[in-house]
Amino acid sequence: MNSFIEKRDFFKGNDIEKIVKEFGTPLYVYNEDILRKRMSEVAGIITKYPYKANYSMKANSNIEILKIAREENVNCDAMSEGEIRLLLKAGFTPDQIFFVPNNIDANEMQYAIDNGIMISLDSIDQINLYGSLNPGSKCALRINPGVGAGHHEKVVTAGKNTKFAIAEEDIDEAKRVADSYGLKICGINQHVGSLYMTPDPFLNAIDQFLRIARKFKDLEFIDFGGGFGIPYHKLEDEEPFDIFRLSIEWTKRLDEFVKSYGSTPLFKSEPGRYCVAEGGVLLGRVNAVKYNGDHKYVGTDVGMNVLMRPVLYDSWHDIEIISDGKVVKGMKEEATITGNICESGDVLCKDRPMPMIKDNDLICVLDAGAYGYSMCSSYNMRLRPAEVMICSDGSYRLIRRRETFDDIFNTFV
Ligand SMILES: Cc1ncc(COP(=O)(O)O)c(C=O)c1O
Repeated sequence: MNSFIEKRDFFKGNDIEKIVKEFGTPLYVYNEDILRKRMSEVAGIITKYPYKANYSMKANSNIEILKIAREENVNCDAMSEGEIRLLLKAGFTPDQIFFVPNNIDANEMQYAIDNGIMISLDSIDQINLYGSLNPGSKCALRINPGVGAGHHEKVVTAGKNTKFAIAEEDIDEAKRVADSYGLKICGINQHVGSLYMTPDPFLNAIDQFLRIARKFKDLEFIDFGGGFGIPYHKLEDEEPFDIFRLSIEWTKRLDEFVKSYGSTPLFKSEPGRYCVAEGGVLLGRVNAVKYNGDHKYVGTDVGMNVLMRPVLYDSWHDIEIISDGKVVKGMKEEATITGNICESGDVLCKDRPMPMIKDNDLICVLDAGAYGYSMCSSYNMRLRPAEVMICSDGSYRLIRRRETFDDIFNTFV
């Protein structure tokens, strides 16, 4: 079995135990080089036509990562007023932000309107609300292309069973309602789901969406969404998502479309995970090892409050073991690695072949940069962790301090 952190020199020669001594565990650690590389890849998927990648910041909203996105020429998607506020703070201008919310109220919509941010509406009721607040303006519609994709039913966001988007059969009604407020539908967007490992589901959705796009005249932009996967089984050499093939096949489809549509809109994507997952790891400390029956339980401080994905989606994360600052090699026994939350489901991996793990070792959970910190909670009154960046020049720095008990208690009135 390979070691990803050694192969990529993830910590750039820095002493892992020293970092952990300084900032404690659990600790999110990011590698700037990997983040920049992935951001620049998504920024360049389409080169032949006007194209912009919007980083979906729900995947990781650390302000330093948002600044990297901006520097790599990537715009952003926001899902909430809070995300818009943070993007503005990170230096994005309103025209670099696309608001793609779901079921929001008038106040949240008004915040976007006041800040001049383009909004995507995903139901007739939301068109009515927007039209009453901002008649005669421009907006986008989120359309369900009828096909979904994703690694788990909870992340499929199109097709027959989803709360998202306007169904194709309701497009005429959506246009009529938009018209009644003098709204101009200047863009359409879709997002079919998250984490597919080949470009095919996305290409299939592109075909559907370009067919649907022809039902709209003079679109200024068409946004195809995100969902590009990353190899979570990289220690077993899982193949990465083929972004090169995606680029070629997607461009061919745009060639066809542009030839007959009559104008060339700006084409967009909305990747989140692809940009940040592999650029982040989560370090935790082994606090107790015990055997219950035939099972070895490795008790760590990486609870489900720190990394939700395994509990929420049964997700797999590769885990490396670090003892005295060195990666431990070789499979020795099966281990169930758990967190410190009072829930029997608080399990990172179950009966997984692992190297020998001892009390006080470190675990390094790979591919934790996406939907890691951004899904953290203070469940069990545990503090959200700190975040550290391993910078391109080899230095490292704190980019978010650990939460304090005062941070939590201060919300009580
Ligand atoms: C509307 C929308 N766009 C983009 C994304 C990003 O998806 P991913 O992180 O899989 O690329 C999501 C995630 O669920 C989403 O809901």
